[in-house]
Amino acid sequence: MKKRILITSALPYANGPLHFGHIAGAYLPADCYARFERLKGHEVLFISGSDEYGVAITLSAELANRTPQEQADHFHQVNQEIFEKFSISFDHFSRTTTPEHAPLVQQFFNDLLANGYIEARMSEQFYSESDRRFLADRYIVGTCPKCGFEEARGDECQKCGASYESTELKQPRSKLSGATLTLKETEHWFLLFGRFKEELEKLLNARLWKSNVTHFARSYIESLHERAITRDLEWGIPVPLDKAKNKVFYVWFDAPIGYISATQAWAKQQKEANAWKKYWLDPQTHYVQFMGKDNVPFHAMFFPAMILGQNQPYKIVDDLVANEFYNFEGKKFSKSEGWTIDLDNFFRHFHVDQIRYTLAANAPESGDSEFTWRDFQLRCNGELLGKYGNLVNRVLVFLQNKLQAKVPKRAPLEEIDHRFLSDMQRITLAIEESYATYHLRRAAQQIMELAQLGNTYFDAKTPWKVVDSPATQTTLSLCLECIQKLACISYPILSQTAERVWEMLGNHQPLSHFTWNELLEFSLEEGRQLPKPSILFQKIEDEVIEQQIALLQQRHEVALKKKDPPYAPLKPMIGIESVDQLDLRVGLIVAAEKLKKSKKLLQLEVDLGFERRTILSGISGHYAPEELIGKKVIVVANLKPAKLMGVESQGMVLAGSLDQALELATVEGLPAGTSIS
Ligand code: MF3
Ligand code: ZN
Repeated sequence: MKKRILITSALPYANGPLHFGHIAGAYLPADCYARFERLKGHEVLFISGSDEYGVAITLSAELANRTPQEQADHFHQVNQEIFEKFSISFDHFSRTTTPEHAPLVQQFFNDLLANGYIEARMSEQFYSESDRRFLADRYIVGTCPKCGFEEARGDECQKCGASYESTELKQPRSKLSGATLTLKETEHWFLLFGRFKEELEKLLNARLWKSNVTHFARSYIESLHERAITRDLEWGIPVPLDKAKNKVFYVWFDAPIGYISATQAWAKQQKEANAWKKYWLDPQTHYVQFMGKDNVPFHAMFFPAMILGQNQPYKIVDDLVANEFYNFEGKKFSKSEGWTIDLDNFFRHFHVDQIRYTLAANAPESGDSEFTWRDFQLRCNGELLGKYGNLVNRVLVFLQNKLQAKVPKRAPLEEIDHRFLSDMQRITLAIEESYATYHLRRAAQQIMELAQLGNTYFDAKTPWKVVDSPATQTTLSLCLECIQKLACISYPILSQTAERVWEMLGNHQPLSHFTWNELLEFSLEEGRQLPKPSILFQKIEDEVIEQQIALLQQRHEVALKKKDPPYAPLKPMIGIESVDQLDLRVGLIVAAEKLKKSKKLLQLEVDLGFERRTILSGISGHYAPEELIGKKVIVVANLKPAKLMGVESQGMVLAGSLDQALELATVEGLPAGTSIS
């Protein structure tokens, strides 16, 4: 029977680029499942989108000197490109600033309020008079109430690890402006979560979620308490009440509703405005959500409660798949620590199916797992190339060279052939179960098991000994069947490779146009001409991996220095008179060239407005001469001339340096000759 399946992946925050950890947790497993169920002939809709609101986005936008919308636009684009690189086959990737989204969020709120599940409460929060706004914890710094550290964060001290309410901080200040803060009363709306306890328990009992999810949800149910769903922020969806001016919804209140609004946006794009309804309003639809484990409470409890308390019969999640964390070489992926992989660089060197396979084969299903470069190399060379690629290549090349590239004829089967067939069938049946229950690790193993079965069979039958006997023809025919089945069962994970193999079997329609059952049925008619095969996977050499590891170390070191720059000790205090003695001027660089015989020095011609100077500067290696021309720098204009390597230098340009890095101090808006004091 044809099923209708709705699949969603957690909406990624649009405030930074996705990394392997996200892909392994919420997107690749969902994609493999979607691809599998599509092949099974079911009606699948696979949805996600950018989560654009929330304090984290405001903060990162401010750091990047963008408006929150610009920041979200930017990362919406970036992340969409990343999904394409990973061949994630969303039917629609939406965002939470679509016209569909806000009205739907407000409808949820209005219903929940009218039904008595939401109440307003007064509370005290920090207010910045100068910024004229309430500040979220992330915007607050102050002195730690435990250890006295003066730069402690709003809710936890990064020095002693204490966590506290921001109201306990001493000398609280705004992280942005440094302004001192005062406590002020503000009204917020709370979802009375406890009222859903019984219904949530019922829901949990009715669902067969994986134990990591169920455990978590059960302990969560015990401590359900009301939660504020509004915030005093400018960026977010407005609360539709007159007395809630300047308040927006908490991002976790609006974001999950994004699954519904994204489906509506998809329907609109299909020019079938009502098409979303069969997914969200028909109880027959099977709904599966994928996410990282930190998202479980919101999907298992919070969003179901929101649905239960409003008036539309929206589907509540049937299956909830949460993966553990996926780390990188022993640590968390971290952009600020440079503990990342540059994806452009990655995809220049490697094939998407190499990473899809690796992420699937060590997916963080029942515990945390990690990506390491060595493991990646081993899996690519030993498994993808050594088993899968090897089988496809040796069989197709043999046919090409010895049997006129034609699908051979099958003679009556012997015992060993029968066993091969039944072993193949065992694996293809078993892998269905793996995909249907989201066990990607097991599926990856089973793919390799089938490939290895084919290799072992080929070896055992030694077809190279008597090249065109009927037995050899049979061997090759069965090997082709194995390859066809391999293409089918590997498609959910290795979609591009499977399509290529399918093509190399002389098929003209893409594999994805067929169903699972059709694909498993041997369909290569005797005598079919096979095209010339090509290599599926390149070997990954040690040097390539070593280079990647070196790159990582380098990036990590630079990032740590940036985070924690080695400040030089302060020199002794001086009086204002000493400063007055310095004559600093804006100088325009009009010419620059390398000084012969010197590695470090560049010879600059600098226009000070009233005169031109020749200045030697030790910045070669940091700047190419041509990029300096037109820059306005700061010149110590009353420095006594000095001869260096035979040239008189008539001043000095100011620059900052940090280890290996150096940057000239430049000014933009002032004309050459201006005094700086
Ligand atoms: N943006 C959240 C995160 O990255 C996930 C939101 S999932 C949704 O952790 F359900 F709220 F959409
Ligand atoms: Zn502290």
